Amino acid sequence: MKRIAIDHIEAGMLLAEDVLGPDGTIYLSEGTTLRERHRSLLENLGIFSVAIKEVHSANFTKSNEKVKEAQQSPQQSPQQSPQKSPQPTESPSVQAKPSSVNRSVAWKPGTAQLIKRNRMYKKTLESFKSIYQDVSFGRPIAFDAVKASLTPLIDEITNENNILANLRLIEIADDYTYRHAIQVSLLATMIGKWMGLTNDALSDLAIAGLLHDLGKCKVPPLILNKPARLNSEEFEIMKTHVLLSYAILEESGQQNQDILRGVLEHHERMDGTGYPNGLKGESIHLYARIISVADVFDAMTSDRCYQAGISPFSVAEEMLRVASNHLDVEIVSCFLQNISRFFIGNRVQLSTGDFGNVVLVNPYAVSRPLVQLDSDFIDLAKRFDVYITKVLK
Ligand SMILES: [Fe+2]
Repeated sequence: MKRIAIDHIEAGMLLAEDVLGPDGTIYLSEGTTLRERHRSLLENLGIFSVAIKEVHSANFTKSNEKVKEAQQSPQQSPQQSPQKSPQPTESPSVQAKPSSVNRSVAWKPGTAQLIKRNRMYKKTLESFKSIYQDVSFGRPIAFDAVKASLTPLIDEITNENNILANLRLIEIADDYTYRHAIQVSLLATMIGKWMGLTNDALSDLAIAGLLHDLGKCKVPPLILNKPARLNSEEFEIMKTHVLLSYAILEESGQQNQDILRGVLEHHERMDGTGYPNGLKGESIHLYARIISVADVFDAMTSDRCYQAGISPFSVAEEMLRVASNHLDVEIVSCFLQNISRFFIGNRVQLSTGDFGNVVLVNPYAVSRPLVQLDSDFIDLAKRFDVYITKVLK
């Protein structure tokens, strides 16, 4: 038996365990032959992984990396307890649960909350999609509706400890534009919370984060979705999205200067090389500096049409590298130090080809953690010739 993410379901696979509802109702029984349609069914039920019967015994060998990778954590929902892995090198932070707990595929403690969060997310997503469409047709934004759909999700997620796991959850969303807007909003709010902002400020920051790129709905799709680097003329058009976002908000009656500036200035850079006004340092609004950090992190860790997503470790390294010129160093440090603890337990692949588990993260060298290999440890803070190439979720 092995656990797989529902994205990995293939027609013909056999369920190894019942899929149960919150009241014990069996939605799918053990032995069911899975079909393509089951994927969306399970997703709608808020279930992200299932146990399937293995046809062949997959012996773990060092030379069989494909098997090794297939048995790693991507098959787990972030909210589910880690499953027992065949690797002899299980990180101390990744402990197996008793099989009696594992039997309940998705409806163990916490699942109801997961579904609640998923519903909230979908509501926010639908609300944001309708805003996007309204604006495309020249209709004003209903800010009350935005706030009403966003606030419960923000409250729910920012009260949780594992923000990265929560953000992975919402990677199920379809379109990058919508998902990016919501993730930036959540990340920015989380950073604001770590920085000690008031609840009112967090609420404004969440709205600014959600709407920061709204003007892109007025940018020609051929430029917006171009699967290659933009030429200078196209880039000038793309840059107008911040002014467009600002104008849309203002025309919709938004008068909160913090929100407006958070949106307008999110591409300003600390060294004055940003746009639209070439502002420098702290003359850039705090919300915009926070949104920039969230924007860069999410853009760099997501798969987009023109760039394969890279690991959060590489992003952390890159963010630290560019921080002094472009991003606010204090905000980046605050962000990286707070998220670094969530990197522990991640299964990673190194540039040597080896796989291992992250067991210790130095908050001052987030991108160079201590990694446990099969029978050894490697401290990346001391081995600069080795780096993390991939994080296996
Ligand atoms: Fe932007």
